[in-house]
Amino acid sequence: MRLNVAIGADHGGFEMKQELIRRLSGSLDIVDKGAHEFDANDDYPDYVVQVARAVAEGEVDRGIIICGSGVGACVAANKLPGVRASVCHDTYSAHQGVEHDDLNVLCLGARVIGVEVATELAVAFLMARFSGEERHIRRLEKVLALERESLRRQEDAVSDSELEPEEPIEETDNDTD
Ligand code: RB5
Repeated sequence: MRLNVAIGADHGGFEMKQELIRRLSGSLDIVDKGAHEFDANDDYPDYVVQVARAVAEGEVDRGIIICGSGVGACVAANKLPGVRASVCHDTYSAHQGVEHDDLNVLCLGARVIGVEVATELAVAFLMARFSGEERHIRRLEKVLALERESLRRQEDAVSDSELEPEEPIEETDNDTD
């Protein structure tokens, strides 16, 4: 079965994204989440969110995001629950991240590596499968528990703020009783 992969990039990664699509679309189903044209003023979170959502919501199996360094893409992608993203600029990390940590988004820096290395990294990442070994499941469960805890805290903070009055009731000194 062909893998379904979402790919996105800002201006820093635009050319590399186009080339990776050309090279990989023969063997993958690729969904291009933009940018769809080069815009030197665009912002990576706008494309990161498209790829990260597609992965988190199960629209695709994996995601690849490219920016200048890969760092901004990685930081932003990891804000979405269900996403496990990392910059990997060596092939060991690109496959081991999937095998041990169930990495589902690969972030690349087009100002750091060339397209040949990027292609090899993408292939290593996409060919890898989570090991399913007990110790890796145990560690992943601990990571997922941290994510659930963080979501619970956010929900609690929202419901606490809903309990607070919007406008503080001001005390006045002209009370009559
Ligand atoms: C854009 O100039 C650059 O900051 C962005 O592509 C990325 O490298 C951020 O991490």
